Amino acid sequence: MYRSRLNDDADDKTLSFLSSILEDIEIIDVDIVGTEAHNIMLFEIGLLTKKELKSVLTSLENLREKHEKLKDNDAHVIISKLKIPKKCEDIHEFIESKIIDDVGLSIGGKIHTGRSRNDQVLLCMTLKSRNLVNQISTKIIEILDVLYKLSDSNKNSIMTLYTHTQHAQIGTYGHYLLAYFDIFTRDLERFNDLYKRLNINPLGAAAIGGSSFDINREKTSSLLGFDGIVENSIDAVSSRDVFLEIGSNIAILMSNISRLAEDIILWSSSEFGFLEVSDSYSSTSSIMPQKKNPCTIEMIRGGSGISYGELINMLTIVKGSYTGYNRDFQRIKPALWKSLYNASDSLSILKGVLENIRVNKDIMYNSAKNSFALVLDIAEHLVKHHSLSFRESHQILGNVVHNLVSKELKLKDITSDIINKTCKKLVNQNINVTNKEIQFLLDPNNSLNNKISLGSPSIKEVNRMLKIRCVLLKEHSNHIDARINQIFSVNDKLTKIIRSIIE
Ligand code: ARG
Repeated sequence: MYRSRLNDDADDKTLSFLSSILEDIEIIDVDIVGTEAHNIMLFEIGLLTKKELKSVLTSLENLREKHEKLKDNDAHVIISKLKIPKKCEDIHEFIESKIIDDVGLSIGGKIHTGRSRNDQVLLCMTLKSRNLVNQISTKIIEILDVLYKLSDSNKNSIMTLYTHTQHAQIGTYGHYLLAYFDIFTRDLERFNDLYKRLNINPLGAAAIGGSSFDINREKTSSLLGFDGIVENSIDAVSSRDVFLEIGSNIAILMSNISRLAEDIILWSSSEFGFLEVSDSYSSTSSIMPQKKNPCTIEMIRGGSGISYGELINMLTIVKGSYTGYNRDFQRIKPALWKSLYNASDSLSILKGVLENIRVNKDIMYNSAKNSFALVLDIAEHLVKHHSLSFRESHQILGNVVHNLVSKELKLKDITSDIINKTCKKLVNQNINVTNKEIQFLLDPNNSLNNKISLGSPSIKEVNRMLKIRCVLLKEHSNHIDARINQIFSVNDKLTKIIRSIIE
């Protein structure tokens, strides 16, 4: 349709190399809606008659209904069922030529007035990404809800906390899960922040320098539910930074998901046995009959690599591109879709994994009790009740642990006598720690209750944090619902306008 400037046709290989049809299957519906909004606006500024608009919208709606029926199919099936010719450069060419076929060139030839594929592509990417960002945000909310509930029911499930993958301090599984609640809240907030920059309208920039037609950019913005306009026409068609931001936010989200996945994988190993992943999220081995592999979670962990790869992919495509539209940008679309779907799928699976995980509280508790993770509690006790400085206490207990370990003893073998003698030997002070004190300190529950600092794992602190997060979760959830409902109602309104013109 576009090639009148050229003498020679491109061969099939070249056409298919140039074509973005495959990745454009993702944007058929938004391109139809965008074209409908553009044409309603063209009618309002007098560039289409009511009758012309009616025939254009009828043709677009027929295509929309046809596509709607096929929506859940594979892209190749949609291409074949909609009879999209291989020689189409993209979905925009297909849709415009389809309308021209339906209503003739004199009417159909008007639909692209005041518009370029450059702003059209960006409009489609924006509308599609907006939906997928909302989908991801909803899924993060769902994960937050699961984490909140699990945290509440596990606030007394004692476990060891690790630094350097070595036993560090006593904590709870509930406190651990609440950490991920906060981590994913920040991911959600990053998407909320980005949404302000995403939900603005590039349509109306035309190729790069605007239009001599008096097109109404505010009109298409309100019809499509945008919160504003990408004002400068050069910026509107040249910039891809919001999509890079989506890719960056996804990469960060996936890095967080990946770390949680790693913990789950490690903790469900035979060596730990803290958790057991449900059978429905596990796989087996083709040779070792005993195997139960946490494959879904490994796929999630590995999926972080996809998101980093696609981010680098997009960054590198944009880097060094001459200001304006460049065909290189076409290659951003598949990277962006892959990144968005990968994150969305990972979140869905993660939710199921978390909801169905079995927590072996006894194993967790015994591991904590038998570890050296309580030594800091003893050290702090000596500071509080036996007037040692922290460094003195640290040296004494370091030496005590060294001696226990060298005799292959455990922390439970520690005695007040050893502590008192080591104190005398190292810092030349007489203290009188009793075995009763030591026994008290060796109970992980007492360690937990002793944690009084802000944000620590004590049940009291976790309850306080849960209470705040309960309100926060509601607010976030309402915010995302409102955002999604606004789009629903805008789409609904547009559908009604279209119906009123067609019928
Ligand atoms: N298929 C192209 C894309 O996705 C369409 C834009 C082509 N624009 C142009 N001026 N040749 O980016």
